Amino acid sequence: MKTESPVREKFLPVSLPQIDQEEIDEVVDSMKSGWITTGPKVMKFEEKFQDYFNVPHAVALNSGTAALHISYLTAGIGPGDEVITTPMTFAATVSMIMLAGAKPVLVDIDSATLNLDPNLIEKAITLKTKAIVPVHFGGLPCDMDAINAIAKKHNLKVIEDAAHAVGSEYKGKKIGQISPFTCFSFHPMKNLTTAEGGMVIAHSEEDAEQLRLLRFHGIDKDAWKRYEKKGSARYGVHQLGFKYNMLDLQAAIGLHQLDKLAQFNHRRAELAQLYLGVLSDVENIILPPISPADSVHTWHLFPVQFDIDKIGKSREVIMDELKAENIGTGVHYEAIHLHPYFGEALKYERGAFPKAEFMSDRVLSLPLFPKMTNQDVADVVAAIKKVLG
Ligand SMILES: Cc1ncc(COP(=O)(O)O)c(C=O)c1O
Repeated sequence: MKTESPVREKFLPVSLPQIDQEEIDEVVDSMKSGWITTGPKVMKFEEKFQDYFNVPHAVALNSGTAALHISYLTAGIGPGDEVITTPMTFAATVSMIMLAGAKPVLVDIDSATLNLDPNLIEKAITLKTKAIVPVHFGGLPCDMDAINAIAKKHNLKVIEDAAHAVGSEYKGKKIGQISPFTCFSFHPMKNLTTAEGGMVIAHSEEDAEQLRLLRFHGIDKDAWKRYEKKGSARYGVHQLGFKYNMLDLQAAIGLHQLDKLAQFNHRRAELAQLYLGVLSDVENIILPPISPADSVHTWHLFPVQFDIDKIGKSREVIMDELKAENIGTGVHYEAIHLHPYFGEALKYERGAFPKAEFMSDRVLSLPLFPKMTNQDVADVVAAIKKVLG
């Protein structure tokens, strides 16, 4: 029996980083210099990030997870506190709240934005609530005016999980310019990568100082200089801290990625528009929300929800069938409370957050990354049409 050939010959992954010769040369330069750990390139990357975002402090770290962890601690979150966030996020948003000793309290999403629904936040506030952690899902900014109004009224801290939102804007402000803490991730899938890495933007000198202490064993910020002739070999540990510092090897990549961020995000937006156009007449799929005119979306993800009841196939079957057509996809996300650990630890059962669950069962992220061609988009759409019959 003759088997039908797949829509495309070569596998198209859901995401690929764009690493050009300048990133490679900069890493080689660090390698040859002998300075491969935290050093001058990390300082340069932080300064460049501060200038780009027009913010007073940027603290570079070895992951977005580390950024969340030490931001929570610096915001004073600890045992006995509750922190409100969304179920539609990566585990790190929630697990770092728990590792800071506090209890995550989830509120459902707004299906129109896929972000946490500000109208549900006040009902979740108790005397123990300390902070709100909005996650800009896929790069579409949360309703920060509504969230900040609630935070102000109840004296809560706002820590933004902006892992998806490097370059997003909300009402004319860059994400990073709004809250006391904004956390970015530079994982290879993200809009800007340093292989692995993260950054916290902080607005007060005191917070920035505390973040720098926590990132490296509680040792003062210029500790790396002690290996230089002009530095002092002595150092002091001022408190307990972590080993969360970014390497010069990572910053070397980031320095050039930042130069291309606007270009990367522009191409992502072009591809998203292309998808939105060609998928608009495909039945039984819900397309991702677009941002209001006063916001800028980074299109980190292109999440499509498949109407599995009408299609008669589960999301997993659709995913496998797309893979057979050489199209990679991702699940962003399985709702937090549906993971075995979080469901049990936080005592949430299925039914607790119906909108997040609806999405969790149906969502697939389609391939979206700057190097993709228009033909790649056409292949994805052809494969979807084939799989949906
Ligand atoms: C929403 C969200 N928060 C936090 C993180 C953690 O970032 P990292 O992987 O850099 O630790 C991620 C990464 O996937 C994420 O998507």
